[in-house]
Amino acid sequence: METNVKKIAYVASECQPFFASGGLGDVVGSLPKRIVKQSKGEYEISVYLPLYTLKMNPKYFNKLVYIGQTTVKLSWRNQYCGIYKYVEGGVKYYFIDNEYYFKRTNYYGYFDDGERFAYFSKAAIEAMIYLNEIPDILHAHDWQTGMVSVYLRTLFYHDERFKHLKSVFTIHNIEYQGKYALDDDIIEDVFGLSVNDSHIFEYQGNINIMKGAMESSNIVSTVSPTYAEEILTPEYAHGLEHEVRRVKEEGKLLGILNGIDKTFYNPAKDDSLFVKYSKDEIENKVQNKLELQKMLALTVDENIPMIGMVTRLVHHKGVEYIKQIFNELMNENVQIVILGTGDSYYEGYFKDMEAKYPHKVRAIISYNQDLSRKIYGSSDFFLMPSRSEPCGLSQMIASRYGTIPVVRETGGLKDSIHNFEGRKGNGYTFKGDNAWDLLDALKHAISDFNNKEVHLDHITKVIKADFGWSASAKSYIAMYKKFE
Ligand code: GLC
Repeated sequence: METNVKKIAYVASECQPFFASGGLGDVVGSLPKRIVKQSKGEYEISVYLPLYTLKMNPKYFNKLVYIGQTTVKLSWRNQYCGIYKYVEGGVKYYFIDNEYYFKRTNYYGYFDDGERFAYFSKAAIEAMIYLNEIPDILHAHDWQTGMVSVYLRTLFYHDERFKHLKSVFTIHNIEYQGKYALDDDIIEDVFGLSVNDSHIFEYQGNINIMKGAMESSNIVSTVSPTYAEEILTPEYAHGLEHEVRRVKEEGKLLGILNGIDKTFYNPAKDDSLFVKYSKDEIENKVQNKLELQKMLALTVDENIPMIGMVTRLVHHKGVEYIKQIFNELMNENVQIVILGTGDSYYEGYFKDMEAKYPHKVRAIISYNQDLSRKIYGSSDFFLMPSRSEPCGLSQMIASRYGTIPVVRETGGLKDSIHNFEGRKGNGYTFKGDNAWDLLDALKHAISDFNNKEVHLDHITKVIKADFGWSASAKSYIAMYKKFE
């Protein structure tokens, strides 16, 4: 019997709830389930992931089912590839096991990342073959999986099984491209490719895996409409603007705003909160602030507005803007709680500010899911003044918890948060490159906070905003339909 079910293979380097270091993991963890549900079974999705044995959420480890093993040839290497499976929410997850490459304390940042993810990309293809699950559509995410479409276009070019396959490559952040020195040995010895094919992934004198993926995919998407425009310019594209423009001219470029999983992030069911609440009992939210103030040894007082930040402490998150206005901001009756890791320079800066303003500032230098949810739930405002932000999920999560976003108008922040002055108002925004505009926005927020009626009206607007996946999943389905 003929069926119309289309198979999609997601290939990615992170996925909630198994393991994640950032927003990419949230998206790969929630979008496939939503597409399967929303398309009413028209699409069947398998997600291919590396098995990071040291990172895997222990709750899921024992549930993995061993399927079998195959060998992945990468140049002269013949590498082991174990395949494990787990099914949830109508989505199949396949984990590629190779301890040499993936039993490490971090996800990325190793000298052999190029080889690790070239292996993973090839292993994903070999696993599809082993499982006899050749997809109709490949959907790869970020540079770590960029080699999948490159291999399909080179090593597997004459393989009949993949002839009909169409591919999508999604850029979650163009800053990280997978760049290596252009060197015949690396092309042949590490990636196992012929130098005759190097034009596919060669860019401005380097090997550039993201460029290779853009070149060899049928559609290139990114995670917000505004970012899709921004990356046409050198200011945002980190050197890839020429390739982005080319892709756009070919009509292959798309921007689709992410959503969040409203079940995963739900203040009415979140066990990390001190006190749960929903939009109908928003008055309970403040109990969380009082508890967090106690826990962090800040002044306990519900009338002090609390600004929360959960972020990587890196330049593009706009930390410089905060630095410039920090002392002025501290003249206000306000508290600020920062959770994140990143550049040691910024980590040190916030620790210094904490020492300087011990009753007003708490900087927790770590990655901590439980505490992040306490901050989303307890703060009155959520600060996200990013210099660039492909999409950003934290502003959406904060909104879901009735915490009012204060953002810079860039990328997905611009597409999701609008200033209260306008009709669609659901936060405080500032434009441009002037830190004092951020200070104005924050002062405005603090002054509105002191007017209980206005503040409650704002919270109500914010918590009602719908950042679920339904609209975005619809756009993704429409994108896949272009292939029919
Ligand atoms: C990256 C981007 C972030 C985006 C996320 C998910 O982490 O920096 O803006 O929300 O990917 O697409």
